[in-house]
Amino acid sequence: MTALTLDGVGHAYLGRTILEDIDLAVAPGEIVALVGPSGCGKSTLAHIAAGLTNPRTGRVRRGYARHAMIFQDPALLPWATTAGNIDYGLRLAGVSRRTRSARIAKAAVQVALEPEDLQKFPVELSGGMRQRTAIARALAIEPDFIFFDEPFTALDVALRRRMQDLVIATCAAGRISGLFITHDLSEAARLAHRVAVLDTRGQGILGERLLAGAPGHRSDKAVFAWVQAALRQDPLFRHIHDVDERQIA
Ligand SMILES: Nc1ncnc2c1ncn2[C@@H]1O[C@H](COP(=O)(O)OP(=O)(O)OP(=O)(O)O)[C@@H](O)[C@H]1O
Ligand SMILES: [Mg+2]
Repeated sequence: MTALTLDGVGHAYLGRTILEDIDLAVAPGEIVALVGPSGCGKSTLAHIAAGLTNPRTGRVRRGYARHAMIFQDPALLPWATTAGNIDYGLRLAGVSRRTRSARIAKAAVQVALEPEDLQKFPVELSGGMRQRTAIARALAIEPDFIFFDEPFTALDVALRRRMQDLVIATCAAGRISGLFITHDLSEAARLAHRVAVLDTRGQGILGERLLAGAPGHRSDKAVFAWVQAALRQDPLFRHIHDVDERQIA
């Protein structure tokens, strides 16, 4: 049983084909990074995989019990405290009040938020604390699968690294599977067991590369060497930086 299987998934917006013939599987406990240039349909694919959007063609099979999503924008409720934001998802999930406060406290510890941070409002938090709150909100519902859609792109390098380490450690400890969308090959090489490359125009998965060793056990040197080799020698990654507006801006 896989945690997630996409079978011939295709999609179109306003008659324009965005995705075609996407086959992708994620094994239990596995983190698969999905990379591809801007606009190739990664977010659309994540939405289909998570069930937020119905695919035009193909099917999605989910072998996990409960998923959470973490996006680039932490999307916190501005009128709720950190605790209130984490609580929101738990209430939606129908978790009892008593269990909720224990879950909030546990998730806060996991992402290294202090008890006093739980009483702050989003405007009072730094960018990193806001993103950690979004991660805590996802972890609190105790998912066994997490969809990540470029969650750390807006963070500075040092903070991004800490967030990546947090994801690596929590996913490994809880045997959580995940689909991690990113533009950043070194992020993929640190976090994932496997990297899948989406075609520039969403016409299938071009190919996959298995990464040696487990996430969290690769040296910086090994990660750097893998990225250099991928960019210089591997035709699969030839178009990875095409039409990326954020790099031009
Ligand atoms: N709701 C929508 N209606 C119409 N077109 C859409 C919609 N959402 C996305 N698209 C189009 O679908 C294509 C794929 O978009 P998507 O957001 O999936 O790409 P992406 O790979 O996630 O890009 P990025 O890396 O910039 O986030 C784009 O051409 C986009 O304009
Ligand atoms: Mg996107």
